[in-house]
Amino acid sequence: MPSTSPFDKPTIQSRLSVRGVKWHRDAADIIPLWLADQDYPLCPELKDELRKAVEEEFTVYASDLDVRKAMAAKIKRYNKIEVPPEQVLLTQGVIPGMWLSSVHACRPGDEMIVTDPMYFPFFSVADRTQIRKVYWKLKLDEGYKFDIERLKEVVTPKTRLINVCNPHNPCGRVMTKEELKGIADVAVDNKIYVFVDELWEDILNDGHKHISLASLNPEIADLTITSWGFSKTWSVPGLQAGYLACTNKTMFEGIQGISSNVLRGTNNFSKAIAPLICSGKIDYWVRDMNKYMAEVRDLVEKRLTEMGDFTVPNLEGTYLMFPKFNYGLSSQVLNKLLIDEAKVSLNLGDEFGPEGNGHMRILTATSKGIMNEALNRIEKLVPKLEKMKKK
Ligand SMILES: Cc1ncc(COP(=O)(O)O)c(C=O)c1O
Repeated sequence: MPSTSPFDKPTIQSRLSVRGVKWHRDAADIIPLWLADQDYPLCPELKDELRKAVEEEFTVYASDLDVRKAMAAKIKRYNKIEVPPEQVLLTQGVIPGMWLSSVHACRPGDEMIVTDPMYFPFFSVADRTQIRKVYWKLKLDEGYKFDIERLKEVVTPKTRLINVCNPHNPCGRVMTKEELKGIADVAVDNKIYVFVDELWEDILNDGHKHISLASLNPEIADLTITSWGFSKTWSVPGLQAGYLACTNKTMFEGIQGISSNVLRGTNNFSKAIAPLICSGKIDYWVRDMNKYMAEVRDLVEKRLTEMGDFTVPNLEGTYLMFPKFNYGLSSQVLNKLLIDEAKVSLNLGDEFGPEGNGHMRILTATSKGIMNEALNRIEKLVPKLEKMKKK
């Protein structure tokens, strides 16, 4: 019987008919599984809210107090962090929060810790603000565990900020309470600020639970800036909606001061959907989506490991798999082969740091039909990869 799931519907043709960078950066015969932009339709209730906003011509200057109230209520309910609406800042996605936190916490020449691998905008924020980025290595053969002893080794008197991404892009880990507690202890003992990117907080597999670092205790909350957004869960990256919060009022005011008259929060369409998202009333959509995506993940894992020499890290959270292509080839070489010969575009692993070399990142938030076609194409490339394998 054909599936009735909305998540099973996307086809190559249907996606090509929609505007957007993912499906149109490359030639039309290439399947794009690079950008973290899902292929799924918009949740119908969100579509209604957006339609309503257009009908009401909600395009005027608008306060964001109601939205911040809804966000503070969600942060309390879901993230277990008590923060007043006055200490929630609307941002244009999570990336501005990275920059605000860095500028607040560090001066040029200071050090900030990033994991290797990590979502690459963290690196560019450091480079552009003349902050020295120091790698906290995550190892594939350790299941990308967050090794706290290794974190302690990279802390120096110049460390001002630890950047945390949880769930982790691209390693797919959801941090355990012990790992979070380890980070909290290091930060509190050394009085280091922490920026936590929790954009992927809803995309969880196999019963993994998301825990917010700032919920652990008041001491770590006092040093932490946490940021969330809607883009990955709700298929609205083009609305550019994010928010951050700190329980530490002085720190929040510092960040607000940096952003004032530089950043302008977000647009009214994001404000129109935010209260409904934050209310939890449409969480059914996320549950259904996660269920479908777990099937896609299993499919990718099974087919890749059967077709060739790939190490596929366990995907606990996010819809981004980070397999290692065990052929001794650089990500650059793999990328060229995948685009030119397999007609599939993925993200280069080395963009995420030196540990990512030889990996490629694959978006799994698509239909099984599109994914199977992409895997068929990769499978045809495997004999060539075998021939090129460095002995
Ligand atoms: C970990 C992480 N943070 C931030 C972003 C950027 O999200 P936004 O466009 O909502 O700022 C992404 C996008 O993929 C991401 O994976």
